[in-house]
Amino acid sequence: MKVIVTGGTGYIGSHTIVDLIQHGFDVVCIDNLSRSSTYALAGIEKITGKTIPFYRIDLCDANATHDVLSAHQDAVGIIHFAALKSVPESVAAPLLYYKNNLESLVNILESIEKLGIPNFVFSSSCSVYGNADVLPVTENTPIKNAESPYAHTKQIGEDIIRNFSKRYPAQASILLRYFNPIGAHPSAHIGEIPIDKPNNLVPYITQTAIGKLEQLCVYGNDYNTRDGSCIRDYIHVCDIAHAHTLALQYLVNKRNDSNCEVFNLGSGIGVSVKEAIDAFEKVSLQKLNYVIGERRAGDVAAVYADNTNATTQLGWQCQYSLDDAMLSAWNWEKKMQELQL
Ligand code: UD1
Repeated sequence: MKVIVTGGTGYIGSHTIVDLIQHGFDVVCIDNLSRSSTYALAGIEKITGKTIPFYRIDLCDANATHDVLSAHQDAVGIIHFAALKSVPESVAAPLLYYKNNLESLVNILESIEKLGIPNFVFSSSCSVYGNADVLPVTENTPIKNAESPYAHTKQIGEDIIRNFSKRYPAQASILLRYFNPIGAHPSAHIGEIPIDKPNNLVPYITQTAIGKLEQLCVYGNDYNTRDGSCIRDYIHVCDIAHAHTLALQYLVNKRNDSNCEVFNLGSGIGVSVKEAIDAFEKVSLQKLNYVIGERRAGDVAAVYADNTNATTQLGWQCQYSLDDAMLSAWNWEKKMQELQL
């Protein structure tokens, strides 16, 4: 069975391609390489022994998108990762985010409409919940105002797919809301390659530990949480990746109850920034240079998932712990240094 993966050279996309290949899928990869490199393709090949067809196109180009999808209209589905994902960048350049993330989505759906590729899996985010009143968040937790243009593009993207699904009952979609993906493939052949200075906690930790960055700042220790730092739901990227394979199999086998379903992808465990640092120090045997600083604008105090839907419907179970994820992130950071990535 063939599957088309957009954003396949990116962080979650590349790990998902490995998981799909290991579960018998033939993968076609699309990426414009604006935030990633073909290094990921080499890593995928090292892990799986497979060379996959790769198209460097921009999905904002409707004709190019249609040409590639037409050449693979026998695919059972499309997994759509390609998008810009930096919260601060989206605040600085909102129109870039609306244009890139939404135009590409509409172009793909237009082609799906014409070609009838039956199944679609969309990368959404826990940021669609905004500042939730009750924790853990379930898929039915009310959607509040988006805290950033990035989060807003995910809310709008979900709405576009919901309305598309109402109009085309034969098309099936799944919206996967990721919590905080971290870590790297245990082989250290693929992982996240941050461009410029990282925004996210774990690459910041590993880059500080290896000496690329001088010091980590913990954004606030006066939150109403058990140790005063923010709480998030960190989840190993390989666990997130496998959920995509399960979601696609679920649609292909027509186990879905409706033609547009939503799943939270989080471990269900809330971890504070300080606990994340402790876990890193324990598994890496490194002492991290960090200070406590001011709160970061736009941060919520705590968010973590109720993942019952994904475990019961998709049969998904997390295989990796926080310690596993931190160790893999550290091994990947050392590998990047070795390769001068
Ligand atoms: C945010 C988005 C998430 C998105 C992700 C991708 C929200 C609510 N969440 O996650 O949807 O997928 O970005 O970029 O918008 N921290 C520090 N020091 C640092 C960096 C981070 O203390 O140098 C803390 C943050 O305050 C936060 C935690 O670490 O409490 C995690 O931060 P981060 O990795 O940036 O992810 P989110 O902001 O949770």
